[in-house]
Amino acid sequence: MKQERNLFEPLTLPCGIVLKNRIIKSAMSDSLGDGTGHPTIEQMKLYQRWAKGGLAVSIIGEVQCSSGFAEKPGNLVLNENTDIKRFCELAEKGKENKAHIWLQLGHAGALAYGPTSSPKGPSSLDFPGLRCAALSKNDIHELPPQFARTAFLAMKAGFNGVQIHAAHGFLLSQFLSPLFNKRNDEYGGKINNRIRLLLEIIEAVRAAVGHSFPVALKLNSSDQLEGGFGEKDAIKVVGELENSSVDLIDISGGTYFPGAKAASDKTGTGPYFLEFAKRARTVTTKPLMLTGGFKTLQQAEKAIADGAVDCVGLARALILQPSLPHLWKKGQMPEPNFPRFSQNLEGGVTAWYTMQMLEISKNNETLLPNNLKHAIQVYEERDKMRTNIWLQYFPTINDL
Ligand SMILES: Cc1cc2nc3c(=O)[nH]c(=O)nc-3n(C[C@H](O)[C@H](O)[C@H](O)COP(=O)(O)O)c2cc1C
Repeated sequence: MKQERNLFEPLTLPCGIVLKNRIIKSAMSDSLGDGTGHPTIEQMKLYQRWAKGGLAVSIIGEVQCSSGFAEKPGNLVLNENTDIKRFCELAEKGKENKAHIWLQLGHAGALAYGPTSSPKGPSSLDFPGLRCAALSKNDIHELPPQFARTAFLAMKAGFNGVQIHAAHGFLLSQFLSPLFNKRNDEYGGKINNRIRLLLEIIEAVRAAVGHSFPVALKLNSSDQLEGGFGEKDAIKVVGELENSSVDLIDISGGTYFPGAKAASDKTGTGPYFLEFAKRARTVTTKPLMLTGGFKTLQQAEKAIADGAVDCVGLARALILQPSLPHLWKKGQMPEPNFPRFSQNLEGGVTAWYTMQMLEISKNNETLLPNNLKHAIQVYEERDKMRTNIWLQYFPTINDL
């Protein structure tokens, strides 16, 4: 059946699940976990607030399958050692107002947070600011069942779907990238090999959750790094995914590689990866989502109406205005008030938005002062506190 192309029309995914509209809160690492990988009350309030604001789905960023390769010590960790009741509560809050809540399954690989891990990527690397060891073949073989187990537990806990994170320079995106992946076995070399782990993970996850549970994927259109994963390979990956069981491909770009520009730190007018999405459309029938740079209702409506993508991902806009979908639907046009930052500090914008999520979770939607230096400072202090908790907790349950 042909679906309407309107931002507020429902979207049916290949697995049969219907999303109430086409606005999705893109995965964001909210750093609101309690340091033992469990959700906090603040986190529950944040997702409840977003659900009330009218979006179709919110995706919790960087939920880890084990504690060994977290992106931050505020990440959630979901496995057999977890107190699942607390995840059930989080799922319940995020589903108010017929919203769906998905978990993004992450593994930071070479970019794992140093103070809580010994980073490992596809190959050993020694770049300025980034050092890691190589995953062994056994390490790699353990990953699909790990992702599958966490996806299954997400479903059991009441979450409505999962997104496999293969973007922004984290593990699966490192496997896709010739810059990170120098392996000469079946997981390295040409793109058909670099994509192998990703395909194995998708199929393991699908086998664990059955046919009617959404399994999405976030993919970079390009890492925007010299010698890294570029559009030519990305189009091949989209083409390959056509034969996989993913329900939705979320297109984004950029990495959190030291010194690189992440999409969440960009300030220009978007949407950023639209031309790539249009090319992707020609090689896949899978529903497409686009994340990066949406600032206005007009931009979001146009991307859907033109048929470029099936749904839009908003990250920063929904931090600035959690009720944006609701207000847009009512025909009110409060374009979010994007702050201007005079300081140019690496990671500063992302830190500012992370701290603003904490404000929302405390029922305060007034924007923080535009002081990136201060945002970085409080963000790092909180991470230090969470690191101490993490390092005490995880060895006791043998999960490091
Ligand atoms: C505070 C913050 C945390 C983020 N964490 C994640 C994450 O955990 N996983 C992910 O895939 N993307 C993450 N992103 C990137 C966003 O999902 C999105 O791709 C990027 O911000 C561009 O979209 P926007 O212009 O709508 O903000 C994060 C962005 C921000 C601002």
